[in-house]
Amino acid sequence: MLFNRFYQPDFNLDKLVVAPNLQLSTPDEIRLPLLWLAVLYGRLRASLGATRGVHTPIEVVKYLMAGADAVMTTSALLKNGIEYLTTLRDGLRTWMEVHGYVSVTQMKGSMSQRNVADPTAFERANYIKTLESYKGDYS
Ligand SMILES: Cc1cc2nc3c(=O)[nH]c(=O)nc-3n(C[C@H](O)[C@H](O)[C@H](O)COP(=O)(O)O)c2cc1C
Repeated sequence: MLFNRFYQPDFNLDKLVVAPNLQLSTPDEIRLPLLWLAVLYGRLRASLGATRGVHTPIEVVKYLMAGADAVMTTSALLKNGIEYLTTLRDGLRTWMEVHGYVSVTQMKGSMSQRNVADPTAFERANYIKTLESYKGDYS
C-alpha cells in the first residue's frame, strides 16, 4: 500500500501537551504515492494499493494509470459520507466514457514508468530541469 498516512498530532506549546487533531488529506498529497506506483508498476510480484489524497474521480484515474490494483479513500468519506463512494465510482465511469476507455484494465499502468514515452520524467535528475523552468513570483 502506497502510502499510509500516519497519524500526525500537533504540539500545543502553551500547555506543553500533544494535541490530538484530525487533519484530513488534500488531493495534492497524491504526488508521492503516484510517483512510486508508477515506478514500481510491473517490477514487483505483489499487488499495488494506492492510498492518500483521493477526493475526486480524477485522483482515482491517476492512481489507476500509475498502476494501482486498488484505490482507497478515507478522508473524502469522513468529509462527504459513505455514499460519496457512489459519486467516485460514477465519476470514474463518466471519465472513462468521455475519454474512450472501455475497462479499468486498459487504464492500469498506462502512465507507469514502463509505459510512458519519457521514462526519465520520473527520475530525480528531472528536478533540475523542472527547477530551470520554474518561474517563482518572488522578484
Ligand atoms: C480517522 C482515521 C483513522 C485511521 N485509522 C487507520 C488505522 O487504524 N490503520 C491504518 O493503517 N491507517 C489508518 N488511517 C489511515 C488511512 O487508512 C489512510 O491511509 C489515510 O487516511 C490516507 O488516505 P486519505 O487521503 O484517503 O485519507 C486512518 C485515517 C484516518 C483519517
